[in-house]
Amino acid sequence: MASENKFYVTTPIYYVTARPHLGSLYSTLLADVAARWNKLYGKKTFFLTGTDEHGQKIAEAAEKAGKKPKDFVDSFIESYQGVWNSYEIQYNHFIRTTDKGHAHGVQEWIKYVQKKGDIYKANYQGWYCVSCETFLTESEAKDFKGEYPACPTCGRQTKYISEESYFFKLSSYQDKLLKFYEDNPNFITPKERLNEVVSFVKSGLKDLSISRTTVRWGIPFPGDPKHVVYVWADALNNYLTAIGYQQPGEEKEFNFWWPADLQILGKDIVRFHAVYWPAFLMAADLALPKKLLVHGWIKVGQQKMSKSLGNVIDPQNLLDAYGAEPVRYYLCRHMSIAQDSEFSVPDLEQKINSDLANDLGNLLNRTITLALKNELGDVTAPKTWSKDAIELKDKFSSCLTEYTADFNEGFFNRALTNLWHYINNLNSYFQHNEPWSLAKADKQKFAEVISATCHGLYGTAILLWPIMPKKMTELLDALNVKLKVDGQNYIEQLKTLQWNLQFKIKQIEPLFKKIEHAESPKMTEDKSEFNKKEPDIEPTITIDDFLKVKLLVGTVEQCEPIQGSDKLLKLQVDFGKLGKRQILSGIKQLFSPEELLNKQFVFVFNLAPRKMMGLESQGMLLITKDDQGKAAFITPSVSVSNGSRLQ
Ligand code: MSP
Repeated sequence: MASENKFYVTTPIYYVTARPHLGSLYSTLLADVAARWNKLYGKKTFFLTGTDEHGQKIAEAAEKAGKKPKDFVDSFIESYQGVWNSYEIQYNHFIRTTDKGHAHGVQEWIKYVQKKGDIYKANYQGWYCVSCETFLTESEAKDFKGEYPACPTCGRQTKYISEESYFFKLSSYQDKLLKFYEDNPNFITPKERLNEVVSFVKSGLKDLSISRTTVRWGIPFPGDPKHVVYVWADALNNYLTAIGYQQPGEEKEFNFWWPADLQILGKDIVRFHAVYWPAFLMAADLALPKKLLVHGWIKVGQQKMSKSLGNVIDPQNLLDAYGAEPVRYYLCRHMSIAQDSEFSVPDLEQKINSDLANDLGNLLNRTITLALKNELGDVTAPKTWSKDAIELKDKFSSCLTEYTADFNEGFFNRALTNLWHYINNLNSYFQHNEPWSLAKADKQKFAEVISATCHGLYGTAILLWPIMPKKMTELLDALNVKLKVDGQNYIEQLKTLQWNLQFKIKQIEPLFKKIEHAESPKMTEDKSEFNKKEPDIEPTITIDDFLKVKLLVGTVEQCEPIQGSDKLLKLQVDFGKLGKRQILSGIKQLFSPEELLNKQFVFVFNLAPRKMMGLESQGMLLITKDDQGKAAFITPSVSVSNGSRLQ
């Protein structure tokens, strides 16, 4: 991230065909965390997010909903802004590509590039994915089976289009792009993504179609209103138009913020941001962004979230159940930047309990209670520290060095893992010194242990502030520290901190509540009206995807209800040569144990084991339910050997 005193960060702008989901929250949250982190350095920050509102995908979705495109997109804006606000996402500007100023900026960009000779008119023929709004390359559209090639990104059906189009001379930027990647090896985090981009560009760039005549919902192409601007040429320019590009009187503002210091995006849209976007900027004679942070997908049940799979998680449901900051923490710490990550509610609950309530919250609580019980409200640092406290201080310094390096690279999850090692050290130090005994036996040492723990908590709270701003303000408040993120460089202060602070300890409510309920609430119901309709295009899977799921026949040998659960039955299932397994199933209200006993059913055999009500479930029983809620089992038509596989 930039060393100068400003930081401009962007999120992708979201297609507004539904309310935001957990994936959209993730991209936006990372940007908020990056902006807040840079505020801790005392920088001026500008955080941009918004919505991508033109193009064929939106036009088709609006038509399906029986609405005009503008009315359709308008209907979702409040839900985006509402969810961002409740998650404490402090954006500076929310751009909509239907904003007038944006359209003007895009048209000016086209005129500029046209004047340079980098745009020409020809005919486009090829395959198009409406869901990703992308043209398939020749190699992507080669050798397909069936009537159409599937989109390599989303797997959906593509459409053949043939129409007059304006082309951007992308091919003439191939060498310049390769030189840029070579000169800027840190342009993309993680580095592996840059390698993929380099090989894509090396394989040869074709000119890019940047206008459509068969779509009407878009920005009119300057000088040729039969055409509208291709939605990606429209959308990418939002990063410029939002800060005043080509707006009279806004030059100073624009020159102050551009280039962006960090652009956040998911792995599915790397090509647009790492190839087309830099070429567009080169054509406009503008500087290139300093860094792209490319994150993996959040998966639910091993799949990317998708409306048709019914596994979409609504951030609002999570917020209602767990509060904003624990969810912010979980996403930043336990979703990996570099890879796809599996999101699961039981794991979220477990991490809230272990990391937040136990490791951090409990330590603060114990420190406060012990200090106040022993009349140590005013905590002063000793003149000289003991060896173990000096070690603790040194550990914080090395943690700080690694934390800042990881954070500045965009590896927030790795930074947090590191910080938790430190929190564990802090807990061990506290535990090992047994301050509850020292309170009577050695008051001086007692005061030292409390002071050292407070210093450790103080540093931790500052580093965690970008992730959990309210909770960390509360933590600091318990130590009588007021955090003013107003231009001072807190990170530099932490680096030089001498552990000579005075704290005044105050009782506060526990920072994090433990989650204690028998079963996790279900999070995947989709509430929006639009989402309830059937999608028109089903994503497909390959045979390899199918073969990953091991569906086996097994006989239920024992079946009994689980005490305290109104949903679960516990089954002992015989899988023949593969042995016996305990499987829990939430069907107590649908079937009696007698209906299952000694019968054969179909089970998912290779589902990761999961604990429910303290018992492990080692697979899943398959059933079906119709629209009226009538449930039925899946059984083989004749008896087969236990352990037989469905194929
Ligand atoms: N409109 C384009 C972006 C234009 S930017 C100039 C777009 N929109 S999107 O709504 O489909 O996706 C926006 C972002 O959300 C992408 O970065 C995408 O990777 C991210 N996510 C969508 N689903 C996701 C997950 N399941 N997990 C993590 N992020 C994913 O593409």
